Amino acid sequence: MKVFHTVAGLRESLNKDRREGLRVGFVPTMGNLHDGHLALIKQAAESNDIVVCSIFVNALQFGLNEDWDKYPRTYETDCEKLRNAGCNYLFHPDDIEMYPNGLDTQSRVICPTMTDVLCGASRPGHFEGVTTVVSKLFNIVQPDEAIFGIKDYQQLAVIRRMAEDLCLAVQITSAPIHREADGLAMSSRNSYITAEERPLVTVLKDSLEWIAAEIKAGNRRFDALENTAAARIVAAGFKVDYITLCNSKTLDLAADDDLEITVLGAMFTQAARLIDNLSITL
Ligand code: PAF
Repeated sequence: MKVFHTVAGLRESLNKDRREGLRVGFVPTMGNLHDGHLALIKQAAESNDIVVCSIFVNALQFGLNEDWDKYPRTYETDCEKLRNAGCNYLFHPDDIEMYPNGLDTQSRVICPTMTDVLCGASRPGHFEGVTTVVSKLFNIVQPDEAIFGIKDYQQLAVIRRMAEDLCLAVQITSAPIHREADGLAMSSRNSYITAEERPLVTVLKDSLEWIAAEIKAGNRRFDALENTAAARIVAAGFKVDYITLCNSKTLDLAADDDLEITVLGAMFTQAARLIDNLSITL
């Protein structure tokens, strides 16, 4: 695996590859890689000749009181994992390389409406930071395909929308949620969960599954379903951010006649904010 810290170095290699007709797959990450990330790398390797992974903890997508400074940075072990998973190029820029003019004056990419709800409501500015850095990374790597996990469902929907709206020549592919043995969705932030909380946090996934089963059984009282699931999470000792049923594509609130519905949830443990989701086709 070749490691690049500069835009120019990565571009030079990729330009050569593209001249040889090689297809480029891309997996953007913020590092602290787990099996879910490595599955994205393997998926990228199946349909591309060159797999590029980026590790960049993007300050632009963290709020003022969020965990940018303590976000786990595990560069050496990440490199080892990427090598074993078949990654060809790692792009690991520093803040100056990505934001040479500083964060405050950085041009932004905004995807309105869709980013104001769900995670966007409790993390103002977060998705603007994501769409801005992802579009920069797309411009640097110019991948044929980019792969994103379904775990961050809203992020995936927003990036698909951005790619469509801006006519980006990249195929956005989704990858299934990777789960621990008890069903907890893998996340770099799971390391913030305490030992006491750990057996209880599956209440989020269990509550989403309960809602999905009710809907499949014909229950259309969406508000009541959301409230009951939220109460169950509170009873387990966690604070609910949201439990919301949405149209899978637009992320508008689910309507009675929607055939593709996604149940999305977010809750707070003492030190982590966990998200999960489940899609239903009726
Ligand atoms: O999902 C992530 O890890 C980040 O939001 C991403 C897509 C790498 C952008 O910083």
